[in-house]
Amino acid sequence: MDPQEYFESQIPPSNLSEVSERVDSFVNNHFKKRKIVLVTSGGTTVPLENQTVRFLDNFSAGTRGATSAEFFLDAGYAVIFLHRQFSLQPYSRHYSHSKNCFLDYMKINEKGEVHVEQKWNLNMKEVLVKYQNAKKLGTLIMIDFVTVKDYLFTLRSVTKILSKLKKDAMLYLAAAVSDFFVPDKKMVEHKIQSDDGPLDLRLDKVPKILSPLVKEWAPNSFVVSFKLETDESILVKKSKKSLKTYGHHIVIGNILTTRKKQVIFVYPEEDKPILEVTLNEEELKNGTEIESKIIPKLVEGHNMFRIE
Ligand code: PMT
Repeated sequence: MDPQEYFESQIPPSNLSEVSERVDSFVNNHFKKRKIVLVTSGGTTVPLENQTVRFLDNFSAGTRGATSAEFFLDAGYAVIFLHRQFSLQPYSRHYSHSKNCFLDYMKINEKGEVHVEQKWNLNMKEVLVKYQNAKKLGTLIMIDFVTVKDYLFTLRSVTKILSKLKKDAMLYLAAAVSDFFVPDKKMVEHKIQSDDGPLDLRLDKVPKILSPLVKEWAPNSFVVSFKLETDESILVKKSKKSLKTYGHHIVIGNILTTRKKQVIFVYPEEDKPILEVTLNEEELKNGTEIESKIIPKLVEGHNMFRIE
């Protein structure tokens, strides 16, 4: 199924026009004042039933996207954060999910008042100041998705809206997108019953939408996609193939087990060497995040692209 056939045969998410209006107004607010980046983050699901009890999921906690969004905001971008519902979000990620429960940062004093523990005060203040600044400037908009269909329809709308920015828009596609799905016309309404024995599942292929995205929806945007592999020996080859097929600007390759300390930047130009971005032992120890190195390099690349 090609992308056009996909969009013509699937029922769009019910909130699509409301989301598009919000994004349109956000883009108009920042148009010509600052660059805008669309960050996609988290994994998409594939429901097996219309009234969904079972679904397939893609791996991604949303760490890459949420962390990157913060560094883009630091760099002066306005950020459209298109993320999987309940995955990590910029700023709140520091105090959410099971490892960093915000309650562990609090204490109750002798007067019964709730305070932040002294030892976390500085750290929390730094995050809070940035969060409040983004709110004050209105530079962060959050849009969520659950299914691969929500993601694809929303991505198409948002990138079309962003096309008016021409080269001032960056698309940073870190979401982990399902490769297979159940088309609407084949989807059963109710919970699949187990009485009849094993379930035979045949899934259609999700069309690769990077091609229309680059060529039709946002032809002047700076487009960065991610490639996740588990086998290191095929990462460069697959990244180059992606650039050749879709014609975008950078593929950031990462391996599942080392993604937090090492990535590679692969470029379409044959003569441009692959750039390795890594964290050293010291940086790993002091909690440096690899996105603090990735984003400045992309900002530099985006600026070069804008003056080309
Ligand atoms: O969130 P974390 O836990 O920190 O993990 C981060 C990550 C490992 C998920 C992230 O760094 C990453 O690698 N994301 C892309 C993973 C992936 O699934 O790649 P892919 O080969 O399916 O897709 C390649 C690119 O095409 C992606 O940018 C994707 O957004 C895009 N794509 C894929 C399929 C499709 N139908 N349409 C697409 O646009």
